[in-house]
Amino acid sequence: MQDKINELKKKIAEAIKDVHSSDSLFQIKMKYLGKSGEVSELMKGMRDVPKEKRPEVGMIINALKVWAEEQFGKLDRTIKDKELKKRYAAEAVDVTLPGNTSKKGAYHPNTLVKRELISIFAGMGFTVFEGPEIENDYYNFTALNTPADHPARDMQDTFYITGDLLLRTQTSAGQIRVMEKQKPPIKILSPGKVYRSDDDATHSPMFSQMEGLVVDKGITLCDLKGMLDEFARKIFGDGVKTRLRPSYFPFTEPSVEVDVSCFECGGKGCRLCKGTGWIEVLGAGMVNRHVLEGCGIDPEEYSGFAFGMGIERIAMLKYGINNMKLLFEGDTRFLRQFKG
Ligand code: PHE
Repeated sequence: MQDKINELKKKIAEAIKDVHSSDSLFQIKMKYLGKSGEVSELMKGMRDVPKEKRPEVGMIINALKVWAEEQFGKLDRTIKDKELKKRYAAEAVDVTLPGNTSKKGAYHPNTLVKRELISIFAGMGFTVFEGPEIENDYYNFTALNTPADHPARDMQDTFYITGDLLLRTQTSAGQIRVMEKQKPPIKILSPGKVYRSDDDATHSPMFSQMEGLVVDKGITLCDLKGMLDEFARKIFGDGVKTRLRPSYFPFTEPSVEVDVSCFECGGKGCRLCKGTGWIEVLGAGMVNRHVLEGCGIDPEEYSGFAFGMGIERIAMLKYGINNMKLLFEGDTRFLRQFKG
C-alpha cells in the first residue's frame, strides 16, 4: 500500500509540475481528488483491507489526501496570483492620458459682429426690423429711387426669381417697408442676408448687411457724422475717427462713403489700410426726398439719414480675416478661434 501511495505522490507531483493555468490545475485536481479520482478510489479500496489494518491504512491515505490538497492549494494560489497580475496589467488605465473632452462651441464671427452692432445701436435708441429676403422689384429698387431704366441698377448684379420677384440685393429694401407703416420719429436697424451675383476673395453671392434709418424733424448730416463717430469708437476702439467722402446712391442725397481711421496703424499707413491711413466701412447719406415722398412722409417737415454696411466686411476688418470664404465654409478649426 505504501508503495502505491508513493507512486501516486510521484504521479501527482509530476502532473502539476508544468501547470500554468487554474483551469488545467482544476482538471488534475479532479483526476486525483474528485469523487471518482484516484485518491478517492484508494479510499474506496479500504473495504478490502483487513479490519485491524484499516486505521493504519486509513491514516496514510488521509495523509496523502492532505498532502495533495496542500500541493494543489499552494499551486492554485500562485497561479491565481499570476493570472490576476496579468489581468491587472491588461486592464491597466493610464491616468496620464488626455481624457475625452467635449469641444466647446463658439459664435460665428458674423454673429459676434451682428450682436455687437445691435447692442451699440440699441444703446442709441435703435430698434430692430427684419425684412424679407425675397423682395419684389418695388421695395428693392423702384421705391428706393431706382426705376427700371436707372443706370444704378447695374451697381448690383441681381438674382431674379420671376420678373418681379428677386433676392434682395440690399437691406435698404426694409427702409421702405418701415416708412410705409411707421410715421416719424423712426430709428430702426435692419440686419439680414442679401444676395448679389458676385464671387471673389472679398465678395460672396450671399452676405449680410446691417442697415440703419433715422427719420425725424431736423435731422442733418451732422447727426449722421456724430452717430458714426460713436459707432466707430465702439466697434474699432477709442481714438478711431470717421471721414465722409462724396459718393452716389439713388436713395440718398447727398450720399457719402464712410471711412474710419486705420485702427491698426493709427493712420500712419500700413498693409491693412493700403498705406492710406483710412479704411472704407460703409455707405450712407441723407434719405432722398423722393423716397420720403413715395412713403407718404413730407420732406418739408421731416428729414433723415440712412447707412448700410457689410457685416462680413466689418468682421474681416475686426478680426484680421483675409478671405471672405472662411466665413462661409464652416471649418471648425477656423470658427473655434472666436470666443464671444
Ligand atoms: N444699400 C447700399 C448698398 O448696398 C448701402 C447704403 C445703405 C447706402 C443706406 C446708403 C444708405 O451698397
